[in-house]
Amino acid sequence: MFGLTRDIGIDLGTASILVYVRGRGIVLREPSVVAMDKNTGRLLKVGSEAQKMLGRTPGNIVAIRPMREGVISDYDMTERMLREFIRKVVPFRLLKPRVVICVPSGITEVEERAVIDAGIQAGARKVYLIEEPVAAAVGAGIDINRPEGHLVVDIGGGTTDIAVISLGGVVESESIKVAGDKFDEAIIKYIRRKHNVLIGERTAEELKLAIGCVYQKPEEEVVEVKGRCLMTGLPRVFQISATEMIEAFEEPATQILEAVHSVLERTPPELVADISSNGIVMTGGGSLLWGFDKLIESHTGIETAVAEDAISCVAFGTGSSLENLSHMQDGTVNLSRRRQLKL
Ligand SMILES: Nc1ncnc2c1ncn2[C@@H]1O[C@H](COP(=O)(O)OP(=O)(O)O)[C@@H](O)[C@H]1O
Ligand SMILES: [Mg+2]
Repeated sequence: MFGLTRDIGIDLGTASILVYVRGRGIVLREPSVVAMDKNTGRLLKVGSEAQKMLGRTPGNIVAIRPMREGVISDYDMTERMLREFIRKVVPFRLLKPRVVICVPSGITEVEERAVIDAGIQAGARKVYLIEEPVAAAVGAGIDINRPEGHLVVDIGGGTTDIAVISLGGVVESESIKVAGDKFDEAIIKYIRRKHNVLIGERTAEELKLAIGCVYQKPEEEVVEVKGRCLMTGLPRVFQISATEMIEAFEEPATQILEAVHSVLERTPPELVADISSNGIVMTGGGSLLWGFDKLIESHTGIETAVAEDAISCVAFGTGSSLENLSHMQDGTVNLSRRRQLKL
């Protein structure tokens, strides 16, 4: 083992980064956040330690999420963050690791290059890209190599990726910038409008995790929230119910439903028939929002289930792809759809 570097797979998510080391499994899970000193440009913290600083930094320190909306919005920071994480899992640097990184299916060539360059700069010997929905499907336990259609809905922090997969590739897909973050924003907006109170992003996410839902729960739930009253400017405590959450989430939930619908509309009929018997599989942290499976099922009439360990599916799928590295091409997205288009 000495001097031998293991291949690694990275789920470069907008909310969290998961790193899979071949032969060892998922070894790192950290929020995609970096904190740096604005004056010196020095990187102070990455991951969970940087997350604690979000929204609480003094003037010279900034804590940011460099991967907002599924692509690299801050290239320099993404590269540094990747470097720190790769360093953490590959302590011996005699031989640089080969790295597989997951990217959203709708990624442009410019964005692709940015991910590859960030990987190389961060210390990878070679970077291979695979499509997130394909990795999600594999991680959810679907045998993607059969000539049979499957529909995967991956709801992350920044993007929702919806894809029909058959014969190991993406047949039809859509990636929209509506996911977990938009649900947090929707809570903030709703509370401002209905209760005249301002709450922060972290409180909004906590509320979402505590009572958030997109479908009527069998029993009503109510929690207390603290915020700043917009009338008086002073702190105020008030109550909010799960039913109000459904109202707050109406817009982003509808946008996701419409995207699922439009992917189904564009899918060849044979594959739609497969999907209606195989069911829809949901992955990603956002799919854990209570009732999302029921909502999609009620709108499509297709049985829908959240995959086991939904947050880790993409990382597990990326990990499996490490076994096939010799068949993959580095420096490009290993995806059938684009190859088919070029033919
Ligand atoms: N139990 C839960 N209920 C609702 N949303 C959740 C839950 N757990 C995580 N999330 C949301 O999932 C999103 C992150 O999902 P993840 O798959 O890690 O995203 P990404 O792939 O973009 O990094 C965040 O918006 C987070 O608030
Ligand atoms: Mg993801």
